[in-house]
Amino acid sequence: MTQGLTIHKGLEGVTVTDTELALVDGERGHLVYRGYWAKDLALQYTYEHVAYLLWFGKLPTEAELADFHAKMAQYRILPDYLKTIIDAIPAGVDMMSVLRTAVSAVGNESYGWPPTVEQAMELTAKVPTIITYRYSRLNGRQPAEPRKDLSHTANYLYMLFGKEPHPAHVAALDAYLVLTAEHGMNASTFSARVTTSTRSDMASAVTTAIGTMKGPLHGGAPSEVDETLAAIGTKENAEPYLRSLLERGERLMGFGHRVYKTRDPRAEALSIVAKRVAGDDPWLDLAVHVENVAIRLLEEYKPGRRLYTNVEFYAAAVLRAVGLPKELYTPTFTLSRMAGWTAHVLEQAADNRLIRPQSVYTGPMPR
Ligand code: ACO
Repeated sequence: MTQGLTIHKGLEGVTVTDTELALVDGERGHLVYRGYWAKDLALQYTYEHVAYLLWFGKLPTEAELADFHAKMAQYRILPDYLKTIIDAIPAGVDMMSVLRTAVSAVGNESYGWPPTVEQAMELTAKVPTIITYRYSRLNGRQPAEPRKDLSHTANYLYMLFGKEPHPAHVAALDAYLVLTAEHGMNASTFSARVTTSTRSDMASAVTTAIGTMKGPLHGGAPSEVDETLAAIGTKENAEPYLRSLLERGERLMGFGHRVYKTRDPRAEALSIVAKRVAGDDPWLDLAVHVENVAIRLLEEYKPGRRLYTNVEFYAAAVLRAVGLPKELYTPTFTLSRMAGWTAHVLEQAADNRLIRPQSVYTGPMPR
């Protein structure tokens, strides 16, 4: 308590809004999107179904899905000016920064207040094309034009690799995208809502969210999980390696969560998906072993903190199995969260109040 105000560092435990979009129950390990278990959606539906559910409040009928798909597919194409902007960014700039810059340039005079579902569709549809356009240019390949006949997820893989994707890869990536499409009041979603609360536009809100997603404490962890496993190399090395990290006070990537005090339900579902798509990969066998050792050691070094596997741990396994390059892990997480961010932008706008907390001044007073 300072100057009569209580500081909630990191806004921990502070409730800022109600939402119809997702229930994140950290004690029970529950994740629900608009009345459906996220895990069930991930194993039975596509990303397009779930984007529709988040934006319109219900799962689409077949006819509604066909219309929705056709609309989204039209928006996949990048206008020339956007390609010019992407091409002007120096080659060494990371993909998240490219995405942040390119998304900030999407839109036209209609992108004002209030934000619309149409804009949510356009932004969500364009993000995979921005990523794959840039990736192809960097790798000296002619960027593939988006294909309207493929689903959102299949088209992403097609544009990335320039060939028809394997259905098992599409299903695995769809499951990952569904499981990470929405997650309540996480840091990037909150930042999108703050921007929207000033009556700024949808593209600005998503740009803010991408900048927030980029940090390793939020969206940057799966590639670091991959690096940790590569450094561990063998099952025998898992315990000494993880111990040395913890002895040095370092964090184990893919473990711990601000809200989940049990195993993240998304990790639960993704471990099933990973086994389906990469069951015979020795990397996955090593990952399962590392998870068990890590949980035991975290309890030893950080007793009572309740640190368990988070979504990023098995996300690395799934993304690796579908052949995504490591530098696209966080951009792909971003691609999935587009549906959630934009749904929150719409929800914030529908019942808006400027988000404006306070701070306590601790500097000197004028003399
Ligand atoms: N490895 C080792 N120790 C950890 C870890 C970890 N992964 N996570 C938390 N701790 C420890 C902290 O050092 C702290 O110890 P202390 O009490 O001795 O100081 C205690 O657990 C509590 O940690 P906080 O930092 O208060 O937890 P917070 O809620 O702020 O952190 C976070 C959550 C950022 C995810 C954290 O667990 C972390 O850094 N994990 C590793 C990075 C990661 O996997 N990020 C992806 C998150 S999932 C997502 O964003 C989609």
